[in-house]
Amino acid sequence: EKTTISVIKADIGSLAGHHTVHPDCMAAASRVLAEGKRDGVINDFYVTHVGDDLVLIMTHRKGVDNPDVHGLAWKAFKEAANVAKELGLYAAGQDLLTDAFSGNVRGLGPAAAEMEIVERPSEPIVIFAADKTEPGAYNLPLFKIFADPFNTAGLVIDPRLHMGFTFEVVDVFEDKGVHLNTPEEMYDLLALIGTPSRYVIRRVFRKDDGRIAAVVAVERLNLIAGKYVGKDDPVMIVRAQSGFPAVGEVLEPFAFPHLVAGWMRGSHHGPLMPVPVRDARPTRFDGPPRVIALGFQVKNAKLIGPSDLFDDPAFDKARQLANDITDYMRRHGPFMPHRLDPSEMEYTTLPQVLEKLKDRFKPVKDLPEPKIKHTEMLSGPEEEVHD
Ligand code: 13P
Ligand code: 13P
Ligand code: MG
Ligand code: MG
Ligand code: MG
Ligand code: MG
Repeated sequence: EKTTISVIKADIGSLAGHHTVHPDCMAAASRVLAEGKRDGVINDFYVTHVGDDLVLIMTHRKGVDNPDVHGLAWKAFKEAANVAKELGLYAAGQDLLTDAFSGNVRGLGPAAAEMEIVERPSEPIVIFAADKTEPGAYNLPLFKIFADPFNTAGLVIDPRLHMGFTFEVVDVFEDKGVHLNTPEEMYDLLALIGTPSRYVIRRVFRKDDGRIAAVVAVERLNLIAGKYVGKDDPVMIVRAQSGFPAVGEVLEPFAFPHLVAGWMRGSHHGPLMPVPVRDARPTRFDGPPRVIALGFQVKNAKLIGPSDLFDDPAFDKARQLANDITDYMRRHGPFMPHRLDPSEMEYTTLPQVLEKLKDRFKPVKDLPEPKIKHTEMLSGPEEEVHD
């Protein structure tokens, strides 16, 4: 019998701007999932949040993209959004882009990472959730986890990892994907995923037997909505130990707070700060971007845990470095590369600014010299000069 792990998240509105999910919204979502568990739609669940994003972690026997499971998640988000509306929370229902649910949350705003597995006797998994960033934020850590022997000792030491991994990379603008094998196609892989706004790692498979190792929610909200509607704030599931990277190897890349796109108004680069759930409440310039990691054991489709994995002083230096980078990046104000490049700004106010200035753009040689006014005021009357 197979087990499916479904992690589905949405921003349904938040407390004091884009800061954190209200406890009453979490409770509303939990009530819906408890009903779903009682009715046998799911076998187990855990509700958490990262910043203003409500995260539903569910286990069941129904496979990925199941209409009942997605319907349950949709209902949980709707009920939570209703509470958000009653409380006047900010951007209530933010990621619920439509009212027309038809069996699957994909393309409707919420983001889903799901994997169907044959449980090992002991099945450790790590659930990641990030706020104020985009799905490509996991590209660099995923590369390190599954393809960099300086990160993952198991690639050298463990015969089942030694054969390498297959990366599924999606072009989110074209809705196309490609499978690339490491180590042999490592440079091709890097050529793509170094552009995390466009080429996003969606899944990783173990080459040894084709078993799934990781899955990311890759939907980009602005591409669905056609305009800026906040950042995607992606979730990810990674399997660990016994033929997969150890939990410590899965977490190790996050000791380097790499620069990701997101942060204030989804329009800035900043460091991805690994934090325990209690610190997943971004405030400085609405950030910097945060990532949480929860460790579970999956047993008979039940969730044992979690353990809050970044709640470890060993990540204090990463957090300190992220704060130093925050100071440094912030001093650029509205300048690139702190602010995103124009192609990414297409989904914000930049097109309107360009439209407004359209008629005032002229060939450089035709630009008029500005008229100089009030010269006498600036230099002062001639006769008052004494020397
Ligand atoms: P333990 O001996 O603590 O189980 O460690 C085993 C291991 O593989 C750590 O990466
Ligand atoms: P969220 O996607 O987390 O709602 O961020 C929106 C935003 O504009 C933050 O400044
Ligand atoms: Mg928000
Ligand atoms: Mg968010
Ligand atoms: Mg968002
Ligand atoms: Mg041990």
